[in-house]
Amino acid sequence: MGNIHAPVQGGKALSISNELDAICQVDALPLKELNNNVKKFYIESYGCAMNLNDSEIVAAILAREGFGNTTNFFEADLILINTCSIRENAEERIRARLREFKKAKKENRDLVIAVLGCMAERLKAKLLEEEKLVDIVVGPDAYRDLPILIAKADAGEKGVNVLLSRDETYADINPVRLSSNGVNAFVSITRGCNNMCAFCVVPFTRGRERSRPADSIVAEAQGLFNEGYREVTLLGQNVDSYHYINEEQNVNITFAQLLEKVALIDPRLRVRFSTSHPKDMKNDVLHIIAQYHNICNNIHLPVQHGNSRILELMNRTYDRAWYMDRIAAIRSILPDCGISTDIITGFCSETEDEHRDTLSLMREVGYEFAYMFAYSERPGTLAHRKYSDDIPEDVKKRRLAEVIELQLQLSHESNLRDINKITEVLIEGDSKKSNLHWQGRNPQNKVVVFPKDGESIGDYIMVKIINCTQATLIGEKV
Ligand code: 5AD
Ligand code: SF4
Repeated sequence: MGNIHAPVQGGKALSISNELDAICQVDALPLKELNNNVKKFYIESYGCAMNLNDSEIVAAILAREGFGNTTNFFEADLILINTCSIRENAEERIRARLREFKKAKKENRDLVIAVLGCMAERLKAKLLEEEKLVDIVVGPDAYRDLPILIAKADAGEKGVNVLLSRDETYADINPVRLSSNGVNAFVSITRGCNNMCAFCVVPFTRGRERSRPADSIVAEAQGLFNEGYREVTLLGQNVDSYHYINEEQNVNITFAQLLEKVALIDPRLRVRFSTSHPKDMKNDVLHIIAQYHNICNNIHLPVQHGNSRILELMNRTYDRAWYMDRIAAIRSILPDCGISTDIITGFCSETEDEHRDTLSLMREVGYEFAYMFAYSERPGTLAHRKYSDDIPEDVKKRRLAEVIELQLQLSHESNLRDINKITEVLIEGDSKKSNLHWQGRNPQNKVVVFPKDGESIGDYIMVKIINCTQATLIGEKV
């Protein structure tokens, strides 16, 4: 998958978690306040960048209905929680949060509570019955129905729509960028997923893959650039399978062509994308990246596992040799490319030797960054139906700890190799530790910190790296 699900790295992304089970991406992000409208919503987003972007679409739909927003849920008339089902612990955290919202409901009986996203699809009946406080359950393809569902809830009925669609892409909705720093924005290019990785619930919760019309993607990115944004991340579970075909208009656009169109908007607009799939990532995409300075030299290429037998069980449809061939292609066409990945430990029947294959593959590739998870069985998936979840929890966690430790070492080694190099940084805001320093990222998606000297957020600055930690490059302007 795409860890757009695949986790998009970035300011708000959590990288390597201290907990043994890594947490991915954007974490329960409260949004900035929109305006002072009479009715207010409060929204929280869990899980991947796609979910965060969906919350921005939902905010746009609600703004049209005259809603303003609040960052204090006790002030809200409508609480929305955009949920994630990718691992069991994500669902547990959301259930705990729902119980906290109960307090607000006690104080305001007219408060409407809506569950959005992947859990909505998976658990609709359970949520309405068990969690009696939930009034609305709406799946990822039904957000346009929210106004009707809210009216139902206001009338004392339950509002439910979890139908998945074959063509909904919300192409015409301009997301409200409530959580943005004004520099980076996500733009969805596909929805759903047609792969059937054995461990993954996404094809069930988000439905079949659809590609959004290219002109609407380019128009959204252009609009963002005009507003001052300087980086867009194109999102899809598997961006390489983007293919927009409109026979009536004689339009046929692949991912490589889409990337080029977005890159041509302006050389000052950085373009990133996530997630790439090893079976679909072709050299044409690599050549387009090489051709345009503003397409970042960074590829998130989830391997999931280093052993070919496990990859087959996972139904990833490639083996280790195929994956390493894709890495070799990246290294030869884009010698300066940062590569990151997703890894799962303790998948069904994984032996100690097979686990060591993951470690050896990580060393062979030398990843800059990784999102690492212990396998969590998800109801309805191929693995749940066909295999036994037979690796004890403590073994999964120990293997995960080994993977995390190795990645910390690889990230540090990669950072040490950058010392004395000069790199282009897009300034995103103050450094977390000091407001005398800027924080930004370089094309390889590494966080770079350097002293302020009259620059502004959104500027591109050439920085010489003079030092580093495991997670950050430290430099000075040249
Ligand atoms: N258990 C553990 N990790 C999972 N992922 C997806 N499904 C599961 C699961 N059942 C991970 C994969 C994917 C990332 C988004 O989450 O590594 O790429
Ligand atoms: Fe990604 Fe595979 Fe899940 Fe699709 S099925 S979202 S490719 S992990």
